[in-house]
Order: sequence, then C-alpha cells, then structure tokens
Amino acid sequence: MSPSQSSLLLLLLMVSCSWASHFLGGTMTFNPRGTNPDGTYRVDLRYKTAFHSTVCLTDTWSCISGDCGNEISLVVNTVDQGISEDWCQTEGVMTRHVSNNTQTFDLLLDGGNWINNVNSVSAWRLWTHVDLGVRSDTKTINRSPQTTVVPLMRVPANCPRDFNLLSFDPDGDEVRCRYAVPTDECVTSSDLPNDFTLQENCTLSFWGNSSTTGTYAVQIVMEDFPTQTISLSYTDGSQSIRTSNNTLCKLPVQFAVRVDPPVTSCMEGLYLPMFLSPTPAQGALLYASADQPLEITVRAQATQSTVSELLVSGPSSITENTTVPGEYLLRWTPTEDEEGGYYPVCFIAQGVNDSSMYHSELRCLIVRVGNTSAIRTTEEPTTSPPLAINLTTTEEPTTSLL
Ligand SMILES: *[C@@H]1O[C@H](CO)[C@@H](O)[C@H](O)[C@H]1NC(C)=O
Ligand SMILES: *[C@@H]1O[C@H](CO)[C@@H](O)[C@H](O)[C@H]1NC(C)=O
Ligand SMILES: *[C@@H]1O[C@H](CO)[C@@H](O)[C@H](O)[C@H]1NC(C)=O
Ligand SMILES: *[C@@H]1O[C@H](CO)[C@@H](O)[C@H](O)[C@H]1NC(C)=O
Ligand SMILES: *[C@@H]1O[C@H](CO)[C@@H](O)[C@H](O)[C@H]1NC(C)=O
Ligand SMILES: *[C@@H]1O[C@H](CO)[C@@H](O)[C@H](O)[C@H]1NC(C)=O
Ligand SMILES: *[C@@H]1O[C@H](CO)[C@@H](O)[C@H](O)[C@H]1NC(C)=O
Ligand SMILES: *[C@@H]1O[C@H](CO)[C@@H](O)[C@H](O)[C@H]1NC(C)=O
Repeated sequence: MSPSQSSLLLLLLMVSCSWASHFLGGTMTFNPRGTNPDGTYRVDLRYKTAFHSTVCLTDTWSCISGDCGNEISLVVNTVDQGISEDWCQTEGVMTRHVSNNTQTFDLLLDGGNWINNVNSVSAWRLWTHVDLGVRSDTKTINRSPQTTVVPLMRVPANCPRDFNLLSFDPDGDEVRCRYAVPTDECVTSSDLPNDFTLQENCTLSFWGNSSTTGTYAVQIVMEDFPTQTISLSYTDGSQSIRTSNNTLCKLPVQFAVRVDPPVTSCMEGLYLPMFLSPTPAQGALLYASADQPLEITVRAQATQSTVSELLVSGPSSITENTTVPGEYLLRWTPTEDEEGGYYPVCFIAQGVNDSSMYHSELRCLIVRVGNTSAIRTTEEPTTSPPLAINLTTTEEPTTSLL
C-alpha cells in the first residue's frame, strides 16, 4: 500500500469513526470472584456500550483513582444490533486482579459524542466506583446491582410509560437511582423535561403529556445501600461503617429515549406491542446451570403494527431465534466461569407500521447461574439454619425483585 493510499485509508477510518461514533449509552456491573492463589483479589466487570453505527465499536476503560489492579483479560462481543435502528451494543467482560482491597477505585470510559438529542448532552462519560471491602453481614465483598438496558427506547409523545430499569441486588441491598451529576458522573447533566420523572426505585416515568418529540440522552447513576448498618473491612485492618444512607458502589446506566409523534391509541396490543404468556414477568428470577441451555420464550402481539424485531440486551452469548412471527426463542448456555453469578436480560418488542416504529414496554429478568457454593464463602440461607440473625440479609429474594 502506498503512503497516499494508507493515509487515505486512515482518513476514511477517521471520518467514518467520527460520524459513526454516536453514543447510545452504556452500563457497568461487577462481581468479585474471591482471591487468587497469590492473594490478589479477582473482580469481573461487565460493561455494555452502544453506538449508532452498524460497526460495533470497542473502547478501553481507564483507572482514574485508587488501585484498579491489572486487567488480566478483556473479551468484547456484540450483544445485539437494532437492525432497523442501526445501533450496535457490545458487552465487555473484563477480569482484573487487585493486589489488596485497601483502596477503592474508579474506572472511567468517556468519549466525544452522544447521538443528537433534544436535551443537549454532547460528550459522554461512564463512571464506576468499586469498593472491595469485605462486608460484615455477608462476610464477602459487596456485589454490585445487576442491570442492563436496551440502548434506544421509543415511546409515542402521548403515551404514559414507565421504564422499569432492572435493579436487582445479589446481596439484597436497597438499590436507588438518581441522575448523574457533572462533572464526575457525566459531562453535562441530562436536564430532562418535566414529562420525565426518575423515581428513586429506578423507574423512569414518562407522563405522555407533552407534544415535544425527539431523542433524549438519559444519564443515571445506580447505587446500592445496605438495609442496615454494616462495616467494610480492608486488608490493612481498617474498617469503614456504612449506614443505610451510605452508598457501597456506583454504576452508570445510560441510554436514549426517543419520543415519537403521537399515536391514535396507547393501548398495548394495538400499535404498541404487548407481551403475552409465556413471556417471563417483569423482574422474574430464572435459574440456569453451566453448560445447559436456558431457553426463554418471548411472545409479543400487536394488531395495528407488525412485530418485526425483538431488541435484546443480555450476556453477549445469548442467541435469538424466531420461527413464528412475534414469537422469539432466547437461548443462553452459561459457561462454568459464569457459575455463581446473576445475569440481567432485558428486551423490547418492536412493531412497524409503514415507517413508524412502536416499542413495547421494557421487560427485564435475572438469570442466576447455579452452583454458587464454589464462589460464595458464606452459608446459603436455604441450607444453613438461621443461627445468626445478622445473616438474614443474605437471603436470596425469591419472587418479586423490583
Ligand atoms: C406532566 O405530568 C407530570 C406529572 O403529573 C407533571 O409533573 C408535568 O409538569 C407535566 N408536564 C407537562 C408539560 O404538562
Ligand atoms: C495495598 O496496595 C497498595 C498499592 O496499591 C500498597 O501501596 C499497599 O502497601 C498495600 N497494602 C497492604 C496492606 O498490602
Ligand atoms: C439517614 O439520613 C437521614 C436524613 O439525613 C437521617 O435522618 C437518618 O438518621 C440517617 N440514617 C442513618 C442510619 O444514618
Ligand atoms: C397500520 O395502521 C393503519 C391505521 O393507522 C391500519 O389500518 C393498518 O392495518 C396498520 N397496518 C398494519 C400492518 O397493522
Ligand atoms: C432456529 O430454529 C430453527 C428451527 O427450530 C433451527 O433450525 C435453527 O437452527 C435455529 N437457529 C439458531 C441460531 O438457533
Ligand atoms: C456444582 O455442584 C455440584 C453438586 O453440588 C458439585 O458436584 C460440583 O463440583 C459443583 N461445581 C463447581 C464448579 O463447584
Ligand atoms: C448482630 O449485630 C449486633 C449489632 O450489630 C451485634 O451486637 C451482634 O453480636 C450480632 N450477632 C451476630 C450473631 O453476629
Ligand atoms: C417505583 O415507585 C413508584 C412510585 O412510588 C411506583 O409507582 C412504581 O411502581 C415503583 N416501581 C417499582 C419497580 O417498584
């Protein structure tokens, strides 16, 4: 390749990246995986980022404070491509080894441009705060809430809708959401109009009482709080008290909401697809085992639009198959390395009528991959008698998670 050819290629790459890199949000969760034989701590972090682009892009998180340890491995894969919307969401699974848990740490991923939006958010920033202190209640390191989200969610301007963000906490902590605060957690605040209300329980309500259409960039921080006072202990012997007012970790949850022109009827099942049985309920907890395929059937129906796509955000190895229109089979085979973890899956059914697209509600569930004994060092509440009253907070939530 001649120098002029290669510089032309470089120029083309730069041009295509700069206009293709329209950010559509991201999330991060983490799961401490115990100590390695050399005494270092292993922590697996999973992040998702989405871009308005047919090419899936990857990025590198930087350590902005504390000791983030060493990145031992990073595997990045495509989660889903919103075919009709030209977006692509990728999942990165990052394993880090941290020499000791004395210092909390912060990881940052940032970049140039959000997708064009009404609320004037341009530069983007995903910020994660990790504290590997050992909890006095569970005797293990705190696990983050588990969440994911479909990167671009649509709602007609006249239709009230609750976006119930998944906020499952494996330790049973209280999970709260708030808007990201500049300039650590975001570059500029979301400043959503009054039509949106973010509840502390992570429901973003859209009231459907405005005529303003367009795309909004939503930047949320999800945090977990112990339900009773606990202490965190560190390698150097120090302890830190955490009350129900003190956050344990902070995660970014960012996405876009597109408010479309009003629709004749907001009733589910007409223009807006409606989920039907046997689609799992919102917040359902499903169980899976390593090396065994978990199958989830999702059915969606609409009479005034054609259900044409299921937008899915979950582990990147989840597959989606459809044989009957409006009926989808999600299949996921967790690996042995995923044992003991909780994995979020969210989806939206998309209906089309001419050039208009209609989204169902956001439906989310949690998959628990069995054999937690290998990773959790505390007794399972189901197998050990309730001798220590203080351990009751480690109980697994069973039915309603949200
Ligand atoms: C929409 O309704 C919400 C809740 O009632 C209210 O807070 C908000 O001001 C309303 N917005 C408009 C534009 O009327
Ligand atoms: C913990 O790691 C830091 C480096 O991040 C080191 O300076 C410190 O001495 C270590 N503390 C202990 C107790 O090992
Ligand atoms: C939490 O904060 C509220 C308001 O500041 C205060 O009234 C309450 O006592 C605090 N609770 C604890 C456990 O510190
Ligand atoms: C599209 O909407 C119109 C009414 O707005 C309806 O008559 C037509 O049946 C719809 N098309 C599909 C494919 O549902
Ligand atoms: C989708 O389902 C069909 C029919 O059951 C099957 O032949 C095909 O292999 C499946 N594709 C995937 C990717 O699972
Ligand atoms: C999973 O559990 C089974 C039964 O308790 C046990 O035999 C197996 O070794 C466990 N696997 C791991 C990886 O811990
Ligand atoms: C439970 O917690 C209380 C206060 O935090 C403490 O006094 C008590 O010893 C604990 N009990 C057990 C069984 O750990
Ligand atoms: C969150 O709180 C709001 C208002 O209190 C309530 O309407 C909504 O159902 C709650 N959402 C969840 C998921 O619990």
